[in-house]
Amino acid sequence: MSTVQVVFTLNGAAVSLDLDPAERLLDTLRYRLGLTGTKEGCGEGECGACTVYLDGLPVNSCLVPTYQVRGARVESVEAIAAERLGPFLAQGATQCGACTPGVVMTALWIGAHPELLETHTIRELMAGNLCRCTGYDGIVDAVSTALGHGEPPV
Ligand code: FES
Ligand code: FES
Repeated sequence: MSTVQVVFTLNGAAVSLDLDPAERLLDTLRYRLGLTGTKEGCGEGECGACTVYLDGLPVNSCLVPTYQVRGARVESVEAIAAERLGPFLAQGATQCGACTPGVVMTALWIGAHPELLETHTIRELMAGNLCRCTGYDGIVDAVSTALGHGEPPV
């Protein structure tokens, strides 16, 4: 199997790897680099459990070949301070926890782009993050609290 060298920035540090050009970013993070905070749910771009930031935009890392992030800036949930998870724990917004890292990544991205809330509800903006446990009200409450937006569940 031929490999390619891929250099990118991960959580603020330079990373250089030789890997199969078809290797998924999700697998690079979890199995090659030991960053298991990023979860695999569906593995086909439907659930958002594997959300990371690629040059500041949330993407599904199960759909991204690591080769394609060469020269880019990747941030995983490990780059986020643990105290940012407080609202999720306080409001029962996590049960099995499989979706939580992706939910948090999307929520913080919304927080960095508050203008989105002028035209969309939190529930709409979180539509790419599926949860099979909580029923979503707790997630929406927690995201609302985390963002200080005060939006009721809809
Ligand atoms: S595991 Fe990537 S979108 Fe579901
Ligand atoms: S808490 Fe289990 S999938 Fe969301």
